[in-house]
Amino acid sequence: MILVTGGAGFIGANFVLNWFAQSQEPVINLDKLTYAGNLNNLASLQNDPRHTFVHGDINDSQKIADLLVKYQPRAIVHFAAESHVDRSIHGPADFISTNINGTFSLLEASRAYWQALSGQDKENFRFLHVSTDEVYGTLGDDNPPFSETTAYAPNSPYSASKAASDHLVRAYFHTYGLPVLTTNCSNNYGPYHFPEKLIPLIIANARAGKDLPVYGDGRQVRDWLYVTDHCAAIRRVLESGKIGETYNIGGWNEKTNMSVVHALCDLLDQLQPKTTGSYRDQIKHITDRPGHDRRYAIDARKIEKELDWKPKETFETGLRKTVEWYLANDAWTKQVQSGDYLKWVDLQYQSAQETKTQEPA
Ligand code: NAD
Ligand code: TYD
Repeated sequence: MILVTGGAGFIGANFVLNWFAQSQEPVINLDKLTYAGNLNNLASLQNDPRHTFVHGDINDSQKIADLLVKYQPRAIVHFAAESHVDRSIHGPADFISTNINGTFSLLEASRAYWQALSGQDKENFRFLHVSTDEVYGTLGDDNPPFSETTAYAPNSPYSASKAASDHLVRAYFHTYGLPVLTTNCSNNYGPYHFPEKLIPLIIANARAGKDLPVYGDGRQVRDWLYVTDHCAAIRRVLESGKIGETYNIGGWNEKTNMSVVHALCDLLDQLQPKTTGSYRDQIKHITDRPGHDRRYAIDARKIEKELDWKPKETFETGLRKTVEWYLANDAWTKQVQSGDYLKWVDLQYQSAQETKTQEPA
């Protein structure tokens, strides 16, 4: 079996659901169920004997040690993290605690467990650390995309905490020989994406008749990948990645935020038209994010060549699937838009100022 951390979050839940679509191998799913973790994401696995959910914190060293001894996983796939840049700006402490200290605790427990293994079990064990392209910092328009050898230059508390965790993972390979793999992926989108992130936020706000908040000029660039393509890449790296190596994962899909918002409005205009006007009318430029990274782009040639992975979805097919999923899953969005979510929306958007932005000709 494998142990997954953070498997009730956006990518982790997609990974677990996807895993069982391809494999009968059991999954132990350890998740703290923060505001971002949601057991409804895993509702279809409720009576599935292949899936064991464990409510717990990756900072709880004893719990992790016990889990490893009890279940003897052949691999750990580590998703658990605080993941939202804007939250890391308002309150970085949880990012340090989970992303850095939590990864450290998990590495320590994994090292002890792995060192006590022998023979094939020891040889085959893997610790796969799921990370982000944001550790590389920001690109200018003419810079080449991030490769695995690009120097780390994180700019937000979120990306700095992920960079620190990547360095710890690297050190455990070089110092102790722990068989680690690291993946650095671009922005994901798809089902079960928490509506604090750009794409699900725009879909939810558009349908609720609210403003569609675009930070600054909206010409920042992200490289978007449909979440199941990310999950497939992680499975490939787990299967055949070379230990100690890092793999950049991306879809060659660089888009400005404005073009993403426009594409979402156009899809909604088509699939659920308003009585008058277009969803584009709701777009509002607001104060920019402090330290906002201008452009991310991924050079994915290494994983494509060495592990024969390529994304299946284009941005157009993936975005349409995503909008259709949200239209068909209103209850999911309503359930996550309660309690803590409302407080977050107030904190982040209430005091934001509208800004006038010149649209490109
Ligand atoms: P998410 O915020 O949706 O989910 C994170 C999950 O981790 C939640 O279920 C949460 O309950 C759990 N968690 C948080 N703290 C925990 C702790 N201390 N112990 C146990 N569980 C804890 O995040 P996501 O978007 O699914 O991202 C998953 C991973 O992928 C993260 O490591 C993130 O850095 C990385 N990543 C995300 C993206 C993206 O676009 N979302 C892109 C590249 C990499
Ligand atoms: P986000 O989904 O938070 O991902 P990340 O910051 O990790 O790339 O944001 C994607 C882009 O969208 C980013 O440039 C910030 C921008 N953005 C907005 O313009 N408005 C919003 O309300 C949000 C949440 C993001």
